[in-house]
Amino acid sequence: MYQIRLLEYGGGEYRDMVKLRDKVLRKPLGLHFTEKYLQQEVNDILIGCFETEEENQVIIGCCVLSLIDDELVQLRQMAVREDFQRSGIGREILTFAETEALKEGFTMMMMHARKAAVPFYERLGYQSIGEEFLEVGIPHYEMRKKLK
Ligand SMILES: CC(C)(COP(=O)(O)OP(=O)(O)OC[C@H]1O[C@@H](n2cnc3c(N)ncnc32)[C@H](O)[C@@H]1OP(=O)(O)O)[C@@H](O)C(=O)NCCC(=O)NCCS
Repeated sequence: MYQIRLLEYGGGEYRDMVKLRDKVLRKPLGLHFTEKYLQQEVNDILIGCFETEEENQVIIGCCVLSLIDDELVQLRQMAVREDFQRSGIGREILTFAETEALKEGFTMMMMHARKAAVPFYERLGYQSIGEEFLEVGIPHYEMRKKLK
């Protein structure tokens, strides 16, 4: 069983989220987060998915929402722990993120999707826009979906 909820910036759960992101998204590329990069997340919406079987809840998935303008929000740092991938958790996290974005009044969600993750976002109704581009050294596409 698992539970998806909002996290507070800077706390212990946030640190665990950063560790998960580092392991799933950065280390495989030989990259790491800097404190300066993380400080920019102070006003972001932070979402974590926790496994509830153990007494101490362990983070197994996450994402971050960054405000672009009054209408548009950007999904970033979408990650599911490797041993939990492909079991529907990413879909649940993204659906939770869309509901939060709607609650906050946003009407459109966008992301820079890794090429390998494009089919995942397509499954959830996102469409790619424009040409492939490089980010953190790997191919990406911008993707968008109108929220309703
Ligand atoms: C991409 C990621 C977030 C997806 O989360 P997940 O929990 O593995 O995905 P889900 O099990 O919820 O998958 C939902 C659907 O998308 C499909 N899907 C998921 N990842 C896919 C992939 N890489 N390629 C093709 N289809 C994929 C699933 O098969 C499922 O399809 P269904 O509708 O037939 O059931 C996760 O695999 C991950 O963390 N990957 C490594 C990091 C990464 O690439 N993050 C995204 C950065 S943009």
